[in-house]
Amino acid sequence: MESPPPKISLLSLLLFSLFSLSSAASLCNPSDKRVLQQLKNRLNNPPDIAFTGWTGDCCTWFGNIGCDSNGRVTSFNIFLTSSPTAQQIPPAIGNLPFLQSIEFHGNLTGPIPDSISNLANLQSLHLSSGLTGSIPGSLSKLKKLTSLDLSGNEFSGSIPPSLGQLNSLTYLDLSLSKLSGSIPPTLARLAKLGWLDLSSNALTGPIPASLSQLTKLGRLDLRANRLTGPIPASFGSFKNPEINLFFGQNRLSGPIPRSFGNANVSALDLSMNRFTGDASFLLGRDKTALETLYLNHNHFKFDFSKMEFPITIRNLDIQHNEIYGSLPKQVGQLRWDFFMVNNNRLCGKIPTGRRLKHISPDNFTHNKCLCGVPLPPCKI
Ligand SMILES: *[C@@H]1O[C@H](CO)[C@@H](O)[C@H](O)[C@H]1NC(C)=O
Ligand SMILES: *[C@@H]1O[C@H](CO)[C@@H](O)[C@H](O)[C@H]1NC(C)=O
Ligand SMILES: *[C@@H]1O[C@H](CO)[C@@H](O)[C@H](O)[C@H]1NC(C)=O
Repeated sequence: MESPPPKISLLSLLLFSLFSLSSAASLCNPSDKRVLQQLKNRLNNPPDIAFTGWTGDCCTWFGNIGCDSNGRVTSFNIFLTSSPTAQQIPPAIGNLPFLQSIEFHGNLTGPIPDSISNLANLQSLHLSSGLTGSIPGSLSKLKKLTSLDLSGNEFSGSIPPSLGQLNSLTYLDLSLSKLSGSIPPTLARLAKLGWLDLSSNALTGPIPASLSQLTKLGRLDLRANRLTGPIPASFGSFKNPEINLFFGQNRLSGPIPRSFGNANVSALDLSMNRFTGDASFLLGRDKTALETLYLNHNHFKFDFSKMEFPITIRNLDIQHNEIYGSLPKQVGQLRWDFFMVNNNRLCGKIPTGRRLKHISPDNFTHNKCLCGVPLPPCKI
């Protein structure tokens, strides 16, 4: 055993002193520390591991609290896992004026305290689960907010139109709650928005045509609501080839506007609505971004025989419609991950090809007269 060369010791000594210096520089601001202690008390000192190390310099507390170089608290990350009773978010959280990020999850209840709207430096607010009441319109004061995730709560009432003033927002998720009322058209002012998820609520009324102004959008998810009316004609202007549009499980109706065929999208879900008429123009060889198309459980009625598919397509579900004609040859050559055409009015021989014969017959049944592998042989 030889002792480490003195150079290394010197280096570690240097590193050690640098480390102590930097931690000394980030000593928790006394006022912020007081607020944090107060928060812990208001949460009834839950036995959670998140709170076990809450002594000494608050800036070093178990990775749940982050500070800037002046010792001001900038992030609050708490997952209440073992609180025996649901806790309300203490309004005192609004007294941490340098907060940039709040992640607060677990056994929560009650409303979002209005005091959160005073946190002018807040960039990210993620709260779940079990919160109730309505989403405060005063959140619109948080001008630096880039990410607002309130999914997985029990919020009621409608989406405040004032959220359209959060013009730094890139991410908005209000899914999995009990929101009602209509989608405020003001959300179309969120020019930087890349992600909008309002799915699994009880929203009613039409899809606002103005949402087509959101040119940065990569995902628009409105699934599982009670939306009515048509797909807005303006949605043909979605040209981001990476965009995913989900409108499934609503009460949308009417024919698909022709102009929507000009959209260039990667995934489109129109399933489980009341759409009628032609949807064939949503496909085509030039739709080279399209991977997923769900038209299932509607009243679409068009001739499938002349359809042309982009080679990119992997998932097609048209089951439970009134689609007629035959399956085009090209269908046998594509690389399907998911393919369902059952319960339509299709007829004729299923095209041969390496892919289709391994798919369950159920995915072809209940048509007018489809035949051949994997269904029974065609007569004649
Ligand atoms: C959360 O709170 C509720 C209501 O106060 C309580 O019944 C439940 O046991 C708590 N859940 C956990 C995981 O502790
Ligand atoms: C759709 O997007 C793809 C992928 O970026 C692109 O190659 C194609 O030209 C676009 N098609 C149309 C019709 O805009
Ligand atoms: C066939 O349909 C079943 C549902 O009945 C589905 O789970 C399966 O993925 C489908 N197969 C293909 C290859 O799409």
